[in-house]
Amino acid sequence: MTIAILGVGMMGEALLSGLLESGWEPQDIRAADTRSARCETIAEQYKVWAGKADEAVEGADTVLVAVKPQDLAGVLADVSPHLKPGCLIISVVAGVTTATIERHLVLDRPVIRVMPNTASLVGQGMSALARGSGATKEHVAKAQEIMEAVGKVVVVPEKNMDAVTAISGSGPAYMMFIAEAMIDAGVMLGLPRTISSDLVKQTILGAGALLTETGEHPTVLKENVTSPGGTTAAALRVLEDRGVKAAFISAIEASAKRAEEIGRAQVN
Ligand SMILES: NC(=O)c1ccc[n+]([C@@H]2O[C@H](COP(=O)([O-])OP(=O)(O)OC[C@H]3O[C@@H](n4cnc5c(N)ncnc54)[C@H](OP(=O)(O)O)[C@@H]3O)[C@@H](O)[C@H]2O)c1
Repeated sequence: MTIAILGVGMMGEALLSGLLESGWEPQDIRAADTRSARCETIAEQYKVWAGKADEAVEGADTVLVAVKPQDLAGVLADVSPHLKPGCLIISVVAGVTTATIERHLVLDRPVIRVMPNTASLVGQGMSALARGSGATKEHVAKAQEIMEAVGKVVVVPEKNMDAVTAISGSGPAYMMFIAEAMIDAGVMLGLPRTISSDLVKQTILGAGALLTETGEHPTVLKENVTSPGGTTAAALRVLEDRGVKAAFISAIEASAKRAEEIGRAQVN
């Protein structure tokens, strides 16, 4: 199986590096970017072929599109005539529907849309994928295998993509917001910033591991550390008083609404 990655910016490079780390051979991966200096760096660092998009897709079984939304129509116009029959198109382009991508292809090709997140850069990404009208279960399985190179994958109907964007797409930023607040609180309580930062990083990592490894509901895990009349109970009381849970729900609703608005304004 050969794959062409169109656009090796932040997300494209994360996917390229993840595929190589998960056992793909450099000769089976082709990378494309606009700037020749960028292509030279990528070729040198990862030992893959790197060049222009129309050449990269020649003979590829899968094409992974990782350009910005405004560059999508241009790159699809360039590569469309060069796509081999049955070539699977996987797009990580935020907000652009499979129907829009299908309209930009000269000939019918199966299309899968993916919403990854930035944790893909460290192999801990969360991707949701949705299939277009011409994609089969086999295409979904192939896309799933590819995205698993950089983290976990779920399959959703395309109508759920705005909700996915609001939860796991923007999610790393919410966790950073919490981390920032906790580190600042530690400093206000007199801890050196480096110590406060180490405490918070490991606490977030540990809480994530507890959640995934025990399989318990967060409410149970929260109750496990909340002794009657204790320190955690005092803190949780303040969070409830200030409406933090309701604020999170409203924030995520706002994110999904914005994803929908941005999607409507994307290339048609
Ligand atoms: N970063 C994330 O966390 C994240 C999460 C979910 C989804 N996404 C999606 O992933 C896509 C890429 O995001 P990114 O953050 O990686 O953007 P990025 O860093 O700007 O990378 C995009 C790359 O594509 C190149 N490019 C543009 N037109 C091209 C063409 N015709 N042929 C080949 N390469 C071309 C760009 O080159 P130039 O710089 O020269 O234009 C750039 O190097 C976006 O659509 C975004 O919505 C990203």
